[in-house]
Amino acid sequence: MLTPRSIQVFDCTGKLIQKPINRVTWSVEAAEKGGYEHFMLKEIMEQPAAVKAALTPRLHDGEIRLDDFELSAEKLRSVNKIVITACGSAYYAGCSGRYAIEKLCRIPVQVELASELRYGEPMVDEHTLVLVLSQSGETADTIAALKECRERGATIIGIVNVVGSTIAKLADHTLYTWAGPEIAVATTKGYTTQLAVLYLFALYAAEKLGRLQKAEYSSLVRSLKMLPKLLQETIDMNYQIPALAGRYASQSLFFIGRNTDYAVALEGALKMKEISYLHAESYAAGELKHGTIALIDEGQPVIAVCCNEALCDKTLSNIVEVKARGAKVLALAFRGNRKIVSQADDVIYIPQIETIFSAALAVVPLQLLAYYAAKEKGCDIDKPKNLAKSVTVE
Ligand code: G6P
Repeated sequence: MLTPRSIQVFDCTGKLIQKPINRVTWSVEAAEKGGYEHFMLKEIMEQPAAVKAALTPRLHDGEIRLDDFELSAEKLRSVNKIVITACGSAYYAGCSGRYAIEKLCRIPVQVELASELRYGEPMVDEHTLVLVLSQSGETADTIAALKECRERGATIIGIVNVVGSTIAKLADHTLYTWAGPEIAVATTKGYTTQLAVLYLFALYAAEKLGRLQKAEYSSLVRSLKMLPKLLQETIDMNYQIPALAGRYASQSLFFIGRNTDYAVALEGALKMKEISYLHAESYAAGELKHGTIALIDEGQPVIAVCCNEALCDKTLSNIVEVKARGAKVLALAFRGNRKIVSQADDVIYIPQIETIFSAALAVVPLQLLAYYAAKEKGCDIDKPKNLAKSVTVE
């Protein structure tokens, strides 16, 4: 029996019995972490469900519908350039999304840091479609960039997580990412759900523009629908990451990749910097020889993202180059990639998916690598020093 002052427990015969008292030491905040040590880890683990929440309302019998608005074929045909603008990880999500949009829609995409675009006299007009990405919807530079573009007559689509936020209100149309509340300062599910929405947009626009054969469209939609399941597999198959973080987290790391893999390298390095305070640089692998390779010495950790199969041999040649100079290479590749095993010191595998969607899977092991590196260093993972979840000042 439960009263405001007491609890009495009875056995099945109705006799009062004494039960030992166990005190739960969790704070309310910890309880909200659902048993995870940090919000960041909880949010990493929530990614399959979050991406499912972003995709499901827009997928109807193999067709994509955009919430409460439609972009007509005529409207899309009048667009001669797409600008994606954002800050931080949202900007890197835009860098990934660009590959999907350009490949499927054959419209030029320019990805601009909002803090640069706002002062750059952007070449934007009524034939420009602007995708404004923001988890919080409140980032000051992103809001300013949105206003700049709107004044020049562009159509604005906000891709935002927080319902009713400033960007959601200012945009002509809003696509919510439905990631749920994200507490950790370093974004994880906010980023992957932005990717999911960008992929949806790319497929939707390509279909409207008649750029895809029906069969190709259907197959890509089916592949996209698999993303939540494959995200879960990615998490489940990467139990060795805490040990790898111990081996690779050193004072300075390089992240390399080409094309879609380069976009993942950018976000992987940012995660590492944000929460573990280690120096991490991302490079388009082909750029190494233009200077950076001078920094590769004995024992230098290099994280090589190698999931874009068309370019895998090219990245492999970069792995050989850095290995020859003593680097220690941790590669990230699709399951079944045997070539990589003979070159890299360690390999993290992810399940196979269409290359244009691969960033959403490939980023997960890098989030975990950063998380465990930061944990090993004893950093304040959910609230890293000097950073804020939402940067509402310039
Ligand atoms: C801050 C956060 C980053 C985030 C960026 C953009 O710097 O620490 O994790 O990527 O803002 O935030 P937004 O809410 O606009 O996506």
